[in-house]
Amino acid sequence: MKRIQIINGPNLNLLGLREPSVYGNQTFDSYLIEMKLQFPDSDIAYFQSNTEGEIIDKLHEVGFSFDGIVLNAGAYTHTSIAIADAIRSIKVPVIEVHISNVFKRESYRHHSYLSEVCKGCIVGFGMDSYRLAINAIQNF
Ligand code: DQA
Repeated sequence: MKRIQIINGPNLNLLGLREPSVYGNQTFDSYLIEMKLQFPDSDIAYFQSNTEGEIIDKLHEVGFSFDGIVLNAGAYTHTSIAIADAIRSIKVPVIEVHISNVFKRESYRHHSYLSEVCKGCIVGFGMDSYRLAINAIQNF
């Protein structure tokens, strides 16, 4: 049984409502039900926060005991040295995930402070980016 933590950052509580042409129509709660059905042998925990410090606290909390972390840090991806340092400080591998293909978007989304400290990155497959990341953790 793999213990997996999904962490969503700012504005991702509005999935389903927020810019549907970029992020789709599905709420994360309904997507999470699908993920739990698809991965019955994994224990998938979910946390969302709009606050940088709370994301760091969650990384510290699960970062020494879980099997993998799937992190979509939203816009903090492009700004947060503090989240990058938190990932550096923990033992559990983190996979960086983005719903949209950030490289097709504004240039300020092209740089990530997190990529170099993550095990890998999955970008641009819509909500399916999370499934691909969970799948990758199954093979760790
Ligand atoms: C995002 C991309 C970020 O640039 C943006 O700030 C988000 C969502 C994505 O999943 O595509 O909030 O991380």
